[in-house]
Amino acid sequence: MKTIASCLFISAALLTSAGNALASEALAKKHGCLACHAVDKKVLGPAYKDVAAKYKGDAGAAARLEGKIKNGSSGTWGQIPMPANASVPDGDVKALVKWILSIK
Ligand code: HEC
Repeated sequence: MKTIASCLFISAALLTSAGNALASEALAKKHGCLACHAVDKKVLGPAYKDVAAKYKGDAGAAARLEGKIKNGSSGTWGQIPMPANASVPDGDVKALVKWILSIK
C-alpha cells in the first residue's frame, strides 16, 4: 500500500505545474502549515511567495529549508519561531519546499 501511495505521489509530482501546485497546497494543508502560512500574505510565518523571493537564485536554499521545516527555525523572519515539524515525512518536506520555492 505504501509503495502504491508513493507511486501515486510521484506521478502527481510529474503532472503539469498547475496539478503540482494543487497537490502541494493540499500537502501544506494536511500537515498544518497553512495554520501559520499563506501563499501571498504573512500570517504567523512569512508568505510563501516572500520565501520564494528571498531565496531566488540560491542553489543551497532547498536543502536548508528542508532542515528548517523539520527542525524548526527562528530569527530569520522576525521574533516568532517556527516549531519543528518532525512528523512530516521527508518526501513531503521535499515536495513542500519545491512547491514553496516555485511560487511567483
Ligand atoms: C506554528 C506556526 C507554524 C507552522 C505550523 C509552520 N510554520 Fe513555517 N514558519 C513559521 C514562522 C513563525 C516562521 C519564521 C521563522 C523564522 O523567522 O526563522 C516560519 C518559516 C518558514 C519557512 C522559511 C524558513 C527560512 O529560513 O526562511 C518555511 C519554508 C516554512 N516556514 C515552511 C513551513 C512548512 C512547509 C510547514 C508545514 C510542514 C510550516 N512551515 C509550518 C510558523 C509556522
